[in-house]
Amino acid sequence: MSTIDYSERIPNNVDLANDRTLQRALEQWQPRFLDWWKELGPNDFASADVYLRTAVGVDAQGWAHYGTVKMPDYRWGIFLADPIADRSIGFGDSFGQPVWQQVPGEFRSQFRRLIVTQGDTEPASVEQQHRLGHSCPSLYDLRNLFQINVEEGRHLWAMVYILHAYFGRDGREEAEELLARHSGDVDKPRILGTFNEPIEDWLSFFCFCYFTDRDGKFQLKSLAESSFDPLARTCRFMLTEEAHHMFVGETGLGRIVRRTLEVMKEIGSDDPEAIRRQGAVDLPLLQRYLNFWFSSSLDLFGSEVSSNAASTFANGIKGRPDETTQYQDHVCADSTFEIEVPDGKGGVTKDTSPMRNAMNEVLRDAYIRDCEIGLKRWNMQIKRGGYEFELKLPSSRFRRAIGAWANIPTDLEGRPIGGDEHDRRLPGWLPSASDRNYVKNLMQRVVEPGKMAAWIAPPERGVNNLPVDYEYVRLT
Ligand SMILES: [Fe+2]
Ligand SMILES: [Fe+2]
Repeated sequence: MSTIDYSERIPNNVDLANDRTLQRALEQWQPRFLDWWKELGPNDFASADVYLRTAVGVDAQGWAHYGTVKMPDYRWGIFLADPIADRSIGFGDSFGQPVWQQVPGEFRSQFRRLIVTQGDTEPASVEQQHRLGHSCPSLYDLRNLFQINVEEGRHLWAMVYILHAYFGRDGREEAEELLARHSGDVDKPRILGTFNEPIEDWLSFFCFCYFTDRDGKFQLKSLAESSFDPLARTCRFMLTEEAHHMFVGETGLGRIVRRTLEVMKEIGSDDPEAIRRQGAVDLPLLQRYLNFWFSSSLDLFGSEVSSNAASTFANGIKGRPDETTQYQDHVCADSTFEIEVPDGKGGVTKDTSPMRNAMNEVLRDAYIRDCEIGLKRWNMQIKRGGYEFELKLPSSRFRRAIGAWANIPTDLEGRPIGGDEHDRRLPGWLPSASDRNYVKNLMQRVVEPGKMAAWIAPPERGVNNLPVDYEYVRLT
C-alpha cells in the first residue's frame, strides 16, 4: 500500500486505475485545478526551479523525497496513510464498533460539510499567499513558501478525492465549488473568515503559519480520529506535511525575534523608533501582529457551546485530537465542561455545558496550549538577551467574532470594557495603518543565495542537510 504509482496521470496509492469512473472524474477535475493554480497560485514563478519535497510513499522513507521541480510540474496526487488493521471507532455513541469504509447515509451531510470546510481552507491559503514570492527575505524562505503552497494544493486534492470517491454527484459539485470560491472575493469568498484575510507581508505569513496552520493541525487531528476510515487516513497523511508549515511559522517568528535582539544590542536601545531606523521589527509591533492572527484563528474553532459539535462527536464523525492517548472517557455521555461566558452585566461568569456540546472549546483549549510553546521559546530568547519584554497571547475572549464573546469588547486580558474605551485602545493592540505601512516597506526582496533581509536572522540550518546558502530557488 505504501508505494505511490507515479506512472499514472494522477499519482496515487488508492488503486485509482481500478476504478475507471472515479479516475475519469478526477482526470476531468485535474486541468481545472491546474488552471486555478496558474491563475491564483504563485504564478509569477512558474518557470523557477524549486528545491521541493514530494511524497513518493506514505511511510517514513518515502514521504519526503527532495528534488528540483518547476511548480506547475509538481506531482499533486492522492495519498492515504496505510490502514490500521481492525481499527475500531474511538469515540461517541458507536465506540468500539468497526470503523466505516463508506459514509453512513444518515451522516452524509454532516460529513460533507466538514470535508468541504476543511477542503476550502487549502486553496484559500494559496490564494492569500499568491504574491508573497515577490518580497521574499531569502531564497531559503522563498522555497519554504513554495513548499507550503504546493502542499496546500495537494491537501485540496486529498479532500477532493474523498468528495469524488464517496459523495457522488454532490461531491463532484462541491469539488467544483472549491475552485470557484476565492479568498477575499466579495461575491464568492472562502468559507471561513481568517482565510479571507489578505497576507501581504512575511510577518503576516509567519503568523498565519504559526497560528492558522496550527488550527489546521487540530482540525486534521480530530478528523484523523473519524470513524469514516478513508477520511481518517487522508488526514493522517496530511498531518505529516502540515508539521512543516508550523515549523516555518515558528522558526520564522523566532528568527525575527533573534534579529530584533541583535539590533537592540547593537544600538543599545529597545526604543521602537530606533529599532525601526535599523530596519528591524520592534517587539511591540510583533505583539500586535500576534494579537491579530491569534484572535482571528480562535474563531475557526466555532462556538463554545454547539449542538453541532455535540452531534459530530456523538456520531463518530469528528473526535478530539489524540483521542486514544489523551482522554479516558471516549463517550462523554454525562461529563460536563466549565466555560466562561459574559454575565450580561459587563462581567464574566462560569457556565456548565454538557461535555459533548463543549467539544469546540476542548479543541480550542488544546490549541491555545500548543500556541504557547513557541511564545515560551521566544520569551527565553528575549530574557537571555537581557530584556524584560514578554510576548503574550491575548485572552481567548479578545476580539472574537464567533461564540459567546462575539462582539463583546474586552481588553487583551479578556476583561469586558466599554465600547468607547475599546475603540480608543484598539490601535495599541492591533497593527495600525502605520505599522502595516512600515512592515510593507521592509519587504524588499532578497534573492542572493545565503543572504537575508535585514529584519530576519538566518535559519539555524538549511533544508534537508543542505547549507543555508544553497540556491533553493533558481529564478529565471
Ligand atoms: Fe493544509
Ligand atoms: Fe498548512
